[in-house]
Amino acid sequence: MRANCWIGKHDMRVQNVPDPKILNDRDAIVRITSTAICGSDLHLYNGFIPTMESGDIVGHEFMGEVIETGRGVQNLQKGDRVVVPFPIACGSCFSCQHGLFSVCENSNPNAWMAEKMWGHSPAGLFGYSHLLGGYAGGHAEYARVPFADVGPIKVPEELTDEQVLFLSDIFPTGYMGAEMCDIQPGDTIAVWGCGPVGLLAMKSAFLLGAERVIAIDRFPERLAMAREKTGAETINYEELSVHDALKEMTGGRGPDACIDAVGMEAHAPGAIGAYDRAKQAMMLETGRPVALRQAIMACRNGGTVSVIGVYGGFIDKFPMGSVMNRSLKIRTGQCHVQRYMRPLLDRIQRGEIDPSFIITHRMRLEDAPEGFAMFLKKQDDCIKIVLKPH
Ligand SMILES: NC(=O)c1ccc[n+]([C@@H]2O[C@H](COP(=O)([O-])OP(=O)(O)OC[C@H]3O[C@@H](n4cnc5c(N)ncnc54)[C@H](O)[C@@H]3O)[C@@H](O)[C@H]2O)c1
Ligand SMILES: [Zn+2]
Ligand SMILES: [Zn+2]
Repeated sequence: MRANCWIGKHDMRVQNVPDPKILNDRDAIVRITSTAICGSDLHLYNGFIPTMESGDIVGHEFMGEVIETGRGVQNLQKGDRVVVPFPIACGSCFSCQHGLFSVCENSNPNAWMAEKMWGHSPAGLFGYSHLLGGYAGGHAEYARVPFADVGPIKVPEELTDEQVLFLSDIFPTGYMGAEMCDIQPGDTIAVWGCGPVGLLAMKSAFLLGAERVIAIDRFPERLAMAREKTGAETINYEELSVHDALKEMTGGRGPDACIDAVGMEAHAPGAIGAYDRAKQAMMLETGRPVALRQAIMACRNGGTVSVIGVYGGFIDKFPMGSVMNRSLKIRTGQCHVQRYMRPLLDRIQRGEIDPSFIITHRMRLEDAPEGFAMFLKKQDDCIKIVLKPH
């Protein structure tokens, strides 16, 4: 089959690779009809996630048709149309029993690597390095889905691929980012990053009862989408001091909660940005946490900082004094997608949200390398790319 493979930094290639096979009783093989490029894939593309190997198949947002199931998969049948969540989870360990699917204790065969870096291992993820299991991803014609009796959700025929594809990752992720803010009536939520994840966090914040959402970015087309499609107010951080603007917009108090939907590769003008870029290049810190620092400093006393942007290792100049002295709460995680798929599918079916509004580009699988280059540079007003392997 054809698959989009990571070869090295800024080098993706669509290659011929062996078809996936059922390896365990609880596996299924899915013929992929739609798959997407995620901001998380850019961390791989830019070479910031260790333990990638040349030839690894990437992609963790995908859906398609079940063409084969192992003997242990009773809930799915050949021909079922499913969306697959990006964390791989067994459904029965301590973490899974507590709904913490992205930290499943049974799905990372390379747990020892993650334990060295993080103390304990999270779940394995599709297409996201050997540290996280070395699983082949979904930028391909077919994928093997482990624990297929737990993860994939069947989707009704009347909904299009584009309406349900983002149940695999970014809709639940944005939703979890908003949910972690414990939104109360009257709350103002600030969101750093108007990428797909930030935009869906904004939509979700309103769904969960926020009164105001303030979106922060620098790309005009993304800020416009935040205003027009989610109802947020916006701040262009290249034009205004984010801290001062947020203070002014909230009567001096600061937002009730701040969501970091940017992560480890924040763009940062000025001296602090140069400092982070230099330290990151020398591997002295693994992230440039500009948005996170701002989110902490801006949040109102006693408020919540919700971190859904991805971080890999260690960061510098973390304002712990601000967190501690001002009673802030920090909540974070790779999304526990399995927990949200059913309720969010219900919201899509009820017409409360159609996450396909973020799609700007549709491409063939063969064009994935071009898509990565375009998405990295946000060229052609690119916000979200969907790839069609078939
Ligand atoms: N927690 C999870 O489960 C999960 C799931 C999916 C994605 N993510 C992460 O979410 C983040 C966003 O993903 P995406 O697909 O939306 O990516 P994206 O690259 O499309 O969007 C990131 C946005 O952040 C903006 N940005 C950069 N620096 C900024 C700054 N200093 N202040 C404000 N905005 C800034 C960029 O201009 C861009 O619009 C990534 O880190 C990704 O890895 C996490
Ligand atoms: Zn993703
Ligand atoms: Zn588990």
